[in-house]
Amino acid sequence: MSTLQREAVAETVFDAVAETTAGIRDGLRGRRESVDSENASGEAQLAADVWADDVLADRITDVEGVGQFVSEERDDVTDCGQGLSVALDPLDGSSNLESNNLIGTIVAVYDGDLPAKGRDLAAAAYVVYGPITTMVAAVDDSVTEYEIVDGERRPIESDVTLGDDPTVYGFGGRVPDWTPEFENYAEDIESELKLRYGGALVGDVNQVMGYGGVFCYPALQSRSEGKLRLQFEGNPIAYIVEAAGGRSSDGEQSLLDVEPTRIHQRVPVHVGNANLIDRLEAELD
Ligand code: F6P
Repeated sequence: MSTLQREAVAETVFDAVAETTAGIRDGLRGRRESVDSENASGEAQLAADVWADDVLADRITDVEGVGQFVSEERDDVTDCGQGLSVALDPLDGSSNLESNNLIGTIVAVYDGDLPAKGRDLAAAAYVVYGPITTMVAAVDDSVTEYEIVDGERRPIESDVTLGDDPTVYGFGGRVPDWTPEFENYAEDIESELKLRYGGALVGDVNQVMGYGGVFCYPALQSRSEGKLRLQFEGNPIAYIVEAAGGRSSDGEQSLLDVEPTRIHQRVPVHVGNANLIDRLEAELD
């Protein structure tokens, strides 16, 4: 597939996601309770997780040029034709639904079979269900922010870059579970930047995109692979942050260079302004 064809398929996938957003926002009401099931990573599912996954899967597997589909809520990859592979986090941060806080959707479009490497991403995007619904999409190294109105993407900022005067940080995991090396890094950052942590990756990263700063869900003492998933969260978020001029790291290298071994593989995630990620890698070394 040529670069132009890849971009066209990715834009069609993002349009399909945008078209679902109003319905998804409406459908969250009445679906905030748990159902008696777990996703492939062993996390309890809410009715909204299962339902949004079905809505999005129906739309995306119908897109011409999409060959494989998988989501954080599904055990296995679905083959649906010839072409690019889509990995989706349908409701990122859905544990925030109970407290009526921010959630989102993350979309990764890979040119390769799943599980794929971050370097094989053709494009990536995330939707923020905040006071208004927005999408931030990276295609061909260029990042655009859209408002979604009546199911359509309306560009509000093109060539988005990370704020160059870093202001905010958000670090996941319980402090006693951090490694001593990460704790040292956190102590430095806490004295320089302002804490902003909401518990939904899209929201926390979107603040770093807007203000500049750093988001980390690091390796924990109890779980060295961290919490976030490489295919659905680490790779697409890294792709967007890097396209916006920032850096990503698993602690040693760009997340985009991490070898994929399985669909639901977890990875420590650190993204933000380049100098802040350089300092993190030096501290963890
Ligand atoms: O993976 C789901 C997720 O909700 C992310 O969106 C978020 O960054 C993280 O988990 C929050 O985890 P915690 O509840 O441990 O802060």
